[in-house]
Amino acid sequence: MKRADDFRLKLGNRAYVPIMIGGMGVDISTSELALEAARLGGIGHISDAMVHDVSDRKFDTTFVKDKTRTYKFNINNLSKAVVQFDMGRLAEATINHVRSTMEAKKGDGLVFVNCMEKLTMNAPRETLRTRLSAALDGGIDGITLSAGLHLGSFALIADHPRFRDAKLGIIVSSARALQLFLRKTARLDRLPDYIIVEGPLAGGHLGFGMDWAEYDLHTIMDEVHAFLRDEQLAIPVIAAGGIFTGTDAVGFLENGAGGVQVATRFTITHECGLPADVKQEYLKATEDDITVNGISPTGYPMRMLRNTPAIGSGIRPGCESYGYLLDANGNCAYIDSYNREVLAHPDQKTVVVMDKTCLCTHMRNFNCWTCGHYTYRLKDTTHRKADGTYQLLSAEHVFRDYQFSVDNQIALPQREE
Ligand SMILES: Cc1cc2nc3c(=O)[nH]c(=O)nc-3n(C[C@H](O)[C@H](O)[C@H](O)COP(=O)(O)O)c2cc1C
Repeated sequence: MKRADDFRLKLGNRAYVPIMIGGMGVDISTSELALEAARLGGIGHISDAMVHDVSDRKFDTTFVKDKTRTYKFNINNLSKAVVQFDMGRLAEATINHVRSTMEAKKGDGLVFVNCMEKLTMNAPRETLRTRLSAALDGGIDGITLSAGLHLGSFALIADHPRFRDAKLGIIVSSARALQLFLRKTARLDRLPDYIIVEGPLAGGHLGFGMDWAEYDLHTIMDEVHAFLRDEQLAIPVIAAGGIFTGTDAVGFLENGAGGVQVATRFTITHECGLPADVKQEYLKATEDDITVNGISPTGYPMRMLRNTPAIGSGIRPGCESYGYLLDANGNCAYIDSYNREVLAHPDQKTVVVMDKTCLCTHMRNFNCWTCGHYTYRLKDTTHRKADGTYQLLSAEHVFRDYQFSVDNQIALPQREE
């Protein structure tokens, strides 16, 4: 019987344990979590979502406070179009986060950064170019382009000295999306080094419509493999979404996957950035507690716990401080929904907004509890303590369980006294 450790993910002329921990913003996949994956010979991700805020928390910088002060005059205005990011400060914050992580790296694995295209930040091309270039400047091993098609992203860094040496990968949810990406980047003569295929059971945003349940990761993987074969392209394909055990991983590796990307099982590790009480919410969840809805202003469906504080919350849009989702015209779907409710209830101090959420503020405050489909199985991976709470795990324990377990088994941790 095979174990995930019987396989290796080959990138360039190096081979890695074929387990990647996926990016989870905002700072849910912390540097500590990513560094554990690298130490154990696999690949970890940090995320560049809200990197100003991450830098402020880690290094006592004042990026968010300074930006809030600059745009304070606009806080009560309905339009947020005036809010901009200073590219120099964006680069500085990114380098702080990336460089400090890379300086702490040990072991044979790699650390990548997850870069979501949907963080448009009121100037999509310029902010994206700055984020990608700064991550390369900070010494990141690789960049995973996610949440969006990223059709022009490679071109934005084609002149960067590390464009051909850093690993560059994309996340897609269909062979069609991959085809579009490859067609668009053909003239750069630079293929992605890896392709992550994310199925409908993943956490975060989904690359599907509300009909997500009609899709199946194994089928999409087969379609992507067939497409690459027809095009005579040998690019490792990494399966993601709903891979809960080492045996699930082996199922994909035996079918030709180069590796697997996993996340949900790491949300209840000590190294994960979620607050301790939120980790317990994930552990307590039953299958009925998990929903896919359309409240993300990005337009993509998102999976989350039903009791997530972000649902129905009518807080004032936090763009003057954050502003990550403002599109090229300075709009965000939440601003429209919020303004609609405020105008409809002029005498109310607070409003309820059901159709969209202020994702920036809620992700920043860990109040949007996005999660994978199998979150309800997390309780089976640990012990319940006498006080009713669940024991948290080490990232090493979960990583090694994926790496070595067989026969659908899940290794429980040693019980804490
Ligand atoms: C809490 C959480 C947050 C996530 N945030 C992001 C993100 O910021 N960007 C992204 O590309 N994927 C995100 N994902 C998706 C994961 O990186 C990963 O591909 C997927 O969840 C793997 O499936 P699994 O959770 O069933 O193992 C997130 C997943 C979770 C559970």
